[in-house]
Amino acid sequence: MSTFTIDTATSRATPSPVPGKRTTAPAIRARKANGVAEPPIVMLTAYTMRMAQLLDPHCEVLLVGDSVGQVIYGLSSTIPVTMEMMCAHGAAVVRGSWHALVAVDMPFGSYEASPAQAFDSASHILKQTGCAAVKLEGGEAMAETVAFLVHRGIPVIGHVGLTPQSVNVLGGYGARGREEREAQQIIADAKAIDQAGAFCIVVEGVLETIAEEIARTIAAPAIGIGASPKCDGQVLVIDDLLGMFERTPRFVKRYDDLAARIGEAARTYADDVRTRRFPTSDHTYRPKS
Ligand code: KIV
Repeated sequence: MSTFTIDTATSRATPSPVPGKRTTAPAIRARKANGVAEPPIVMLTAYTMRMAQLLDPHCEVLLVGDSVGQVIYGLSSTIPVTMEMMCAHGAAVVRGSWHALVAVDMPFGSYEASPAQAFDSASHILKQTGCAAVKLEGGEAMAETVAFLVHRGIPVIGHVGLTPQSVNVLGGYGARGREEREAQQIIADAKAIDQAGAFCIVVEGVLETIAEEIARTIAAPAIGIGASPKCDGQVLVIDDLLGMFERTPRFVKRYDDLAARIGEAARTYADDVRTRRFPTSDHTYRPKS
């Protein structure tokens, strides 16, 4: 049974303030009509209904990344992330948004074996969540799969360069393409996924020159993360941007320090409870007069 409808009367979810047309995959693709997307496309990750509500007015694409595994579940990589996790969080983000295109990551192991396996998994994600696209990692090896999905009605976002689901092959999360052979392979990967019909391609953790070459030469918008300001758009993990973690990778700009602010709010609450400053009569129920 699909999980993406919700009785808003029993939830903190508010109905769409602007029930209108969502951004579509062709509209994102068309943003690069003259070889560059101007202004650049804004993409952020989201994992929950409320965060989607807050981000939706500011983004063209909300990505339910498999980074959910690390950010929400405390996993050490994206490898253990399951279809159930992606569908539950994907459905929540669709419920919380009304304008952005919602794309959901295909978890490791759900698409690599064959195009048919990928179609089964991607169609399940679309049915369960109400999202409009999926994202999958990989270059030349995944081109046939991307074409298979696109030709059967499933818009795909590609993901090349540092592909976290391959961490065990790559040996870590460092920037890719420092050697010429690898740099050329990443560019070939982006071109293959572009030609296969992806409507945009995430380019993650590569030398700036590689990202620039990709953005300049592929037809689809190149969405950078740890890539280049010359990409056609940018994506960040929302919790990194908000300062929810102590460690800030080089490619992240922190726009807030929420971890410190949450800690401070919890400390003040704890003080208030222990000194009986909370609750006050403003927070308790009395008989109606
Ligand atoms: O899983 C994720 O959040 C991602 C983005 C970092 C692009 O793939």
